[in-house]
Amino acid sequence: MGEIMIDMKNESSAGPSPWERDLYAHLSEHADAERGLLEQYSTVAKETPSKAFQYLVNLLIEEEIRHHKIFSELAESLKDEALAGGRNAIIPTLDFDRANHDAVLDATQRLLANEQKDARDLKGLRRSLRDVKDTSLWSLLVELMERDTQKHIAILTFVRKHA
Ligand SMILES: [Fe+2]
Ligand SMILES: [Fe+2]
Repeated sequence: MGEIMIDMKNESSAGPSPWERDLYAHLSEHADAERGLLEQYSTVAKETPSKAFQYLVNLLIEEEIRHHKIFSELAESLKDEALAGGRNAIIPTLDFDRANHDAVLDATQRLLANEQKDARDLKGLRRSLRDVKDTSLWSLLVELMERDTQKHIAILTFVRKHA
């Protein structure tokens, strides 16, 4: 008798739980959708004669590549948890306690202070670009970096809360 293949669609008691099955289907679908989106962006970037539009679409492409990667990593990690006990999951489990607690908090605090300073600097910079905000991409780009900085602060705040 051949070995029975257990995959993420397996509905037997040996397979993933219903929650794992549904989440996996959802994550895989989303990863595929992100890939479709990426192809559309690439076509748009290739076909437009506008360099400004192309520049912005290329920024979006970089982000969508990262989204696709993260969705794939979420799906693969879930699969590894469900079928192999999480031994090879790409996304690590929360193991801040393996590191020196004070060292993690110290580093996080320092990085957070930098990001907060960065946020203030960017705000000032955006103010000095007010005159060209509707006639160039510069102010928009600074605004996007401000949003990124908020994201960086959210990441570090997560670490501070859970370390
Ligand atoms: Fe996306
Ligand atoms: Fe940052």
